[in-house]
Amino acid sequence: MRLSEEDLRRWGHRIGEMLTPPAVLALSGPLGAGKSVLARAIGAGAGVREAMPSPTYTLVQRYGASSGREVVHLDLYRIDAPDEIWELGWAQLPGECDLVLVEWPERAGELLPHDHWRIELATPLGQPRLRDVKVVRVGTPHELAPFPMSSAGA
Ligand SMILES: Nc1ncnc2c1ncn2[C@@H]1O[C@H](COP(=O)(O)OP(=O)(O)OP(=O)(O)O)[C@@H](O)[C@H]1O
Ligand SMILES: [Mg+2]
Repeated sequence: MRLSEEDLRRWGHRIGEMLTPPAVLALSGPLGAGKSVLARAIGAGAGVREAMPSPTYTLVQRYGASSGREVVHLDLYRIDAPDEIWELGWAQLPGECDLVLVEWPERAGELLPHDHWRIELATPLGQPRLRDVKVVRVGTPHELAPFPMSSAGA
């Protein structure tokens, strides 16, 4: 699926509205692929009221969301070895109420929770305003919202 930023945000919003915790979403793709754009849209949809700055330096941020849920936003870019993620409280993730959004999930190596969605973002050659989005279900995570209707068949 190839999505504009508006459609990507709309999809993220729906994901956040619908997703039942505990849930883990691995947001994959190179620098500037749109992982944070998607994470913020999911957070907004889930009912996070605050701004969600990139957790590039803090590595992990936790936000209260609607329906007793919590959004945990991680950016593992600065992790050098998978072992370092234990310092982030990784062993407790996902908690019963947590929607866990992981940027640079590759840094965690094999330590990602088994049941998760992998969302791969890539910029198509010559189309800087669009993103190719691939969704891979790993194990048996809770259902994810489908792509926005306006993009169906695009
Ligand atoms: N279709 C699109 N979907 C998402 N973002 C888009 C799209 N088109 C353009 N953009 C722009 O691409 C940028 C994506 O930035 P973002 O911070 O989300 O990337 P990132 O994957 O989180 O990068 P990093 O690895 O540095 O954390 C934003 O400036 C956004 O406006
Ligand atoms: Mg980012």
